[in-house]
Amino acid sequence: MNLKVNGARRQFDGDPEMPLLWYLRDEIHLTGTKYGCGQGFCGACTVHVNGSALRSCQQSMESVADKEIITIEGLSETASHPVQQAWKHANVPQCGYCQGGQIMRAAALLQKNPHPSDADIDSAMKFNICRCGTYQRIREAIKAVAAGAQAVEAKK
Ligand code: FES
Ligand code: FES
Repeated sequence: MNLKVNGARRQFDGDPEMPLLWYLRDEIHLTGTKYGCGQGFCGACTVHVNGSALRSCQQSMESVADKEIITIEGLSETASHPVQQAWKHANVPQCGYCQGGQIMRAAALLQKNPHPSDADIDSAMKFNICRCGTYQRIREAIKAVAAGAQAVEAKK
C-alpha cells in the first residue's frame, strides 16, 4: 500500500492490521508521536489523517492507505506553526509527553474553526489527557492563535 507521511510518499507491505502509531514510531522513527495508553483514551498519539486529528494507535495501516498523514514533525519544518509558537509563548508544556498530541489536536481544530468558542475548545480538547494539568495554558494558547488570526484578518 501507499501513503504519504509529512509530504513524502511511502510504501508499506507489512501487516495491514498494524496500528499506524507502530509504523510511525518503530518503522520510520517519527518518535514525536507518543505512545500513551495504546487504547484510544489519551490522545498522545494524535496525528492528522487527511486533515483530521485522529489517534494513530486506533488506525490500522490498511485504514490509512492512500491517505496523507502529518505528524508533529511535519506540522512545520522549524516549529514555526502558529500553534507551536503560541505553545512556546504561553509556556504550555511541563513534562511535554502529551503535548505533541495536544498541538496536533489544536491545529486541526483551528484549521477547521479559526475562532473557536470556549465550548468549541473544550469539546475538541477534552479527550486529550495531560497528566501535568496544563489545560488552562492549552486553552490560553489556542485563544492566542485565534486572536492572532483575528488581528491579521482585521488588518486586511
Ligand atoms: S496512545 Fe493512542 S489514544 Fe493513547
Ligand atoms: S505536559 Fe506532562 S502530560 Fe501533559
